[in-house]
Amino acid sequence: MIQTDYLIIGSGVAGLTFAIKIATKFPNKKITIVTKSSEDESNTKYAQGGIAIVQNKLDDNFEKHIDDTLVCGDGLCDKDIVSMVITDGPKRLKELIDWGTRFDQNEEGTLDLGREGGHSKNRIVHHKDQTGYEIERAILKQVHTKNNIEIFDFHFALELITENNYCYGAYVLNERTNKISIFQAEFTLLATGGIGQVYGHTTNSSIATGDGIAMANRVNATIEEMEFIQFHPTALYNKTFSSTFLISEAVRGFGGYLRTKNGERFMMKYDKRGDLASRDIVSQSIEKELKKSGDACVFLDCTHLNMDLFINHFPMIYSSCKAIGIAIEKDWIPVIPAQHYLCGGISVNKNGQTSINNLLACGECSRTGLHGANRLASNSLLEALVYSDRIYNLLASLNHVELRESKLFQSWENCNSENANQQLVIKMKNELQILMQKKVGIVRDDSDLIEAKRQLVTWSYECIRIQKEYKITKEFYELRNMIEVALLIVRASIKRKENRGTFVKDVILYPTNSN
Ligand code: FAD
Ligand code: SIN
Repeated sequence: MIQTDYLIIGSGVAGLTFAIKIATKFPNKKITIVTKSSEDESNTKYAQGGIAIVQNKLDDNFEKHIDDTLVCGDGLCDKDIVSMVITDGPKRLKELIDWGTRFDQNEEGTLDLGREGGHSKNRIVHHKDQTGYEIERAILKQVHTKNNIEIFDFHFALELITENNYCYGAYVLNERTNKISIFQAEFTLLATGGIGQVYGHTTNSSIATGDGIAMANRVNATIEEMEFIQFHPTALYNKTFSSTFLISEAVRGFGGYLRTKNGERFMMKYDKRGDLASRDIVSQSIEKELKKSGDACVFLDCTHLNMDLFINHFPMIYSSCKAIGIAIEKDWIPVIPAQHYLCGGISVNKNGQTSINNLLACGECSRTGLHGANRLASNSLLEALVYSDRIYNLLASLNHVELRESKLFQSWENCNSENANQQLVIKMKNELQILMQKKVGIVRDDSDLIEAKRQLVTWSYECIRIQKEYKITKEFYELRNMIEVALLIVRASIKRKENRGTFVKDVILYPTNSN
């Protein structure tokens, strides 16, 4: 058994920034990070556009950013939370800079501010088109300077340990030895990120299998707003059904145009903000255009833009496209919406506390009230930074930390895990992704959702059978978690009777009494 003061599950922006702060505050306390892949693998690492933070007070102000966030959230944001997060942004940015994160500057020597959909002003601070990579680099470097932080990479958290609504840590699978151990902690932070792999066609990393949400659900933590799945409008189109490369929304902020195959700039038909309407509206408009035309994708046209400036701002996008034969200076980029972000998740209060005592959640796995029915672009890194700070402040103010005993600690200690049926797991994962893409996509209807639910329930029983028959692997547990998360999405989608933000139902079977 490993005993620690603070157990952090996940090494993206949410987990690492909390770790740095709590380790600095309490040099004599033990901070343990478990992470299921290499220490830098996360959605954080792939963030492109940047962080939305009000900088230029002459042209912009907090009220405008707050308004944009509320409009984007389509009436379901918590206004106090929106205000709290946005006004805290500049302090969190300064911290990142102090930790060595580099952000692009303009000729005047101030921060270069990009623009993205739904923003009325340029306010996205960024490092080229690799903002997440730069943040992850800088914060991991800080983590490595702390003697009281230990990172267990390739360690997969399987289950939370709870009793009487208290969390005591987690059961963790060492992927190298296949041994399951207890990590006992006074406080446990879920920072496990998103769910993109549930869909297959996603911009997310392979780690995004919704583990934290499934684990929290199994111990009856409150989970909310799982129906609000954000599809990014401009993922690079490819014919295979897999994770896909993102073409940042900042490219449209920089002046790129969306066009149909025939060259029509269609977005003005749908929204007066045109190509820079919020993500939900752009994705839904593309879906309508594709249904109408039968085309496989739409296009992003950057051929009219200053290419030297473009390459300077978006070097990774330019070279990634070039590597597959798309020369952005003369070719339109084929794009299509892909799953990108989960707006809901584990419910937390303004200090990141879940409904389970001593269990906190931060980052994409949490539901704070900031995003409502649709997240405003580049508000996600901001949310993770603000909430990891709030959780830090809360836990730093509790001066007496003692480990609790629980009779549950014995059950899985020293248990070996061996292969579940890998081929069956791969087949079921593939079928799950196809089901979610077809029946629980951008536009849903009740009959599809009910069919999806039936199938997911069957697969849940199949997982119980597999778990009894075989020993545990990470891949099996991820599958189990993804099926559980898919069911949460489908159940929430069936329940919702009105269209809001990212959520669109074409056919509603039950009479609605909502307004
Ligand atoms: P992550 O960074 O995803 O980290 C999760 C961590 O948990 C990982 O280390 C993972 O290995 C670990 N983990 C998960 N499950 C387990 C388990 N069972 N056991 C152990 N470890 C586990 N947002 C913005 O604000 N601006 C942007 O420009 C932007 N661009 C994006 C571009 C792309 C391509 C993508 C995919 C997302 C983008 N986002 C952006 C969203 C943003 O990057 C994420 O929401 C944010 O980084 C999530 O941070 P996190 O720390 O919550 O999770
Ligand atoms: C992007 O760069 O388009 C992604 C930004 C985000 O998801 O907030």
